[in-house]
Amino acid sequence: MERTFIMIKPDGVQRHLVGEIVRRFEAKGFTLVGLKMMKVSRELAEKHYEVHKDKSFFPGLVDFITSAPVIAMVWEGESVIAAARNIIGATNPISAAPGSIRGDFGVSIGRNLIHGSDAIETARQEVSLWFDDEELVDWEPIRKSWLYE
Ligand code: RTP
Ligand code: MG
Repeated sequence: MERTFIMIKPDGVQRHLVGEIVRRFEAKGFTLVGLKMMKVSRELAEKHYEVHKDKSFFPGLVDFITSAPVIAMVWEGESVIAAARNIIGATNPISAAPGSIRGDFGVSIGRNLIHGSDAIETARQEVSLWFDDEELVDWEPIRKSWLYE
């Protein structure tokens, strides 16, 4: 089973979309194995977005991520990394498909509500950057045989 790191960004928390966003991942069939609310330090934000450190939007992005609490989560399931990116939608909410989170709730790239890991290796790195092992819970959802053949 894959695991992916998902973060509801400060705009998602401030707009009271936490329940709506969590609902979409649960309803799809994925399993929540870690969740915490936190104010993000500059150090953690800079590390998380290190790949973008030379981009013009980097300082604004770090300011934004540290501006209010976030919800950090780990979700588990078959192909959850790619599926979560589809549930989230394209980076720019204006071109994100209706039905995706960014497509349904966003209007600007700098306020796109949610982050999801983009590949197997980045998911592994991000899960360990944001969560200690003991914060992740192994459990067996009873609906599993109704989700997978
Ligand atoms: P994320 O990492 O947050 O899940 O978003 P993503 O993969 O869809 O997009 P990515 O290219 O990794 O960009 C990271 C975040 O930087 C902000 N951004 N702003 N102003 C801009 O041109 C611009 N471009 C990117 C967005 O908040 C994006 O989610
Ligand atoms: Mg990204």
